[in-house]
Amino acid sequence: MADRIKIAVIPGDGIGPEIMEQALLVLNAAGEKFGFKADIRVLLAGGASIDEYGIPLTGETLDACRSSDAVLLGAVGGPKWDNVDPGIRPEKALLGLRSGLGLYANLRPAKLFGELSHASPIKGIKDTDILFVRELTGGIYFGKSGEYTSEDLLPDGTPYGNVAFDTETYSEGEIRRILKIAFDAAGGRRRKLSLVDKANVLTTSRLWRKIFNEMAAEHPSIETECLYVDNCSMQLISRPSDFDVIVTSNMFGDILSDEAGMITGSVGMLPSASLGAPGKPGLFEPIHGSAPDIAGTGKANPCAAILSVAMMLRYAFNYNDAAHAIERAVSKTISDGYRTADIYSGRPEEKISDLCEITLAIIKNIG
Ligand code: IPM
Ligand code: MG
Repeated sequence: MADRIKIAVIPGDGIGPEIMEQALLVLNAAGEKFGFKADIRVLLAGGASIDEYGIPLTGETLDACRSSDAVLLGAVGGPKWDNVDPGIRPEKALLGLRSGLGLYANLRPAKLFGELSHASPIKGIKDTDILFVRELTGGIYFGKSGEYTSEDLLPDGTPYGNVAFDTETYSEGEIRRILKIAFDAAGGRRRKLSLVDKANVLTTSRLWRKIFNEMAAEHPSIETECLYVDNCSMQLISRPSDFDVIVTSNMFGDILSDEAGMITGSVGMLPSASLGAPGKPGLFEPIHGSAPDIAGTGKANPCAAILSVAMMLRYAFNYNDAAHAIERAVSKTISDGYRTADIYSGRPEEKISDLCEITLAIIKNIG
């Protein structure tokens, strides 16, 4: 009898539904080969939920995610909802899922596929394989925020007028648990860990650095370094292949992981896993957005969603063989020349493919 796994599926908005459809075909193919069966429950979140229920994430959707074994998400958001009340923007669904499921650890591998190195803006890039470990439920994303009007004047006499604020708060507990994930991850890879912060300015960063240095002393086999975020954004371009694991706060991780996506060729290739307490459902999603401009054209790259399925099989179910098989199949498909528009450069060995063609090739390569 095949194992049954219970997956909450949130296709979302824009290209979300079409890449999810492809990802589920790959999940089923892997299940047939490796002996598991996915029971899928499709849920609305983001813009699709605003249209149906008036809010981006309902309590029922969150509960359904909580009672599943894992959550697969496409992408949320789009210009259609640009003018909704900021309290119910589609992105709130993601933030609500992250905090509601306690998903504090965001793993974002940025790996260069050798054949795609020409798609990178970095000349001569090779052998780049970085794992971002981004704190996901704290920091400025979830700190106190608000707006008020002030009668005060700036020193030069300009009136303050309306004032808005967002604050960054981090506790030792939040920092320690994400650093532990990062040290463990580095231990299983090339044993290099970089902390990225802004400790020359921010008090929160200084707390991160203090705890990081303590933990580094307890992990003598891991080579560690601390970098300021502005410097790191340069180093990522000048020496991308030197980095192994980068651990950082919610906000810096958001920014740097997009930068790394570009460096490695296309965000269309990059998956992610968001994990909480062991035994609780994690959420797996591409790092790219909903790309409403290409929705329905067949141009979307399903690889990030498909690789997110692989991450799900590995992290949520320990199906390492199935995860490897999907990752190998994606690599082979790229080596065979299949290219969606974002990774096509017009070389003779490349075959421009729509999202269904590339998915079929991936499924064939799973065997
Ligand atoms: C990401 C996205 C989200 C974030 C947005 C959509 C809220 O940019 O997952 O990187 O900022 O975390
Ligand atoms: Mg982002």
